[in-house]
Amino acid sequence: MLISKLCGEKDFTTPWFVRGCIELKETFRYHRKLWEWCYILEALRERSMLYPFRRGLGFGVGREPLTSVFASRGCEIVATDMDAEKAKAQGWADTNQHALGLDDLNEKGLCNPNLMKRLVTYETVDMNAIPERYHGKFDFTWSSCSFEHIGSIEKGKRFLLEQMKCLRSGGVAVHTTEYNLSSNEDTLEAEVLVIFRKRDIEEMVAALRQEGYLVEIDYTAGTGPFESIVDVPPFHFNPHLRLQLGQYVSTSVGLIIHKP
Ligand SMILES: C[S@@+](CC[C@H](N)C(=O)[O-])C[C@H]1O[C@@H](n2cnc3c(N)ncnc32)[C@H](O)[C@@H]1O
Repeated sequence: MLISKLCGEKDFTTPWFVRGCIELKETFRYHRKLWEWCYILEALRERSMLYPFRRGLGFGVGREPLTSVFASRGCEIVATDMDAEKAKAQGWADTNQHALGLDDLNEKGLCNPNLMKRLVTYETVDMNAIPERYHGKFDFTWSSCSFEHIGSIEKGKRFLLEQMKCLRSGGVAVHTTEYNLSSNEDTLEAEVLVIFRKRDIEEMVAALRQEGYLVEIDYTAGTGPFESIVDVPPFHFNPHLRLQLGQYVSTSVGLIIHKP
């Protein structure tokens, strides 16, 4: 299984990344967010999750294209995000990163609108209070660039454990997040954004494994020419694989978690 290695090195010329860009109708570019979407798409595709009748649950989906791509494969999707008023207060609506309904989740027309209506439901869910009615109901769960925004490092860790309850046995969870490349000691921890240190991720992985889950993770940060460039606010550069957040340089990391 090569995905975690290739993703860890952020090798953008690999077929899975090119295929992801084409499927998502995204211009090929060296962008962290695009890497996260392609990583999730490929991780679920490789693990045979993207077939009719599979049930998927997305958290903090914003306007990302993954919901519509999964529905176009015949998957039944519950796409969730935080309450609209709170999203506005936190700035997600103003930066076009919060959806109000199905149309916002299919902006690129990746899924036939009738199929989208039939297969996708949109619900308001706080990632810190996952409804019990979801427990044991899904083949896969995912989130992209979301669980670093739910309040604290501790809340992020709790979310990863709690969302596993939504999976059926044999299910797979794929989640991407912010990863601190500058320090394994200090980090940024604010209400709207945390950057996880390696030790935070290691603690999450240990807690997940203790519960009997199988975790795939690769911390390789990559040493290519694009990875040496650090984008700074207001973040309009290409490449945008590493970014400066306060005093820290951050990139993305992904976890693939199996429920046996
Ligand atoms: C950076 S945006 C990412 C959006 C989308 N996943 C993407 O990749 O474009 C962060 C998302 O997390 C959501 N979010 C933040 N806190 C949340 C919470 N407590 N519960 C649910 N969603 C939350 C926001 O509404 C927003 O959609």
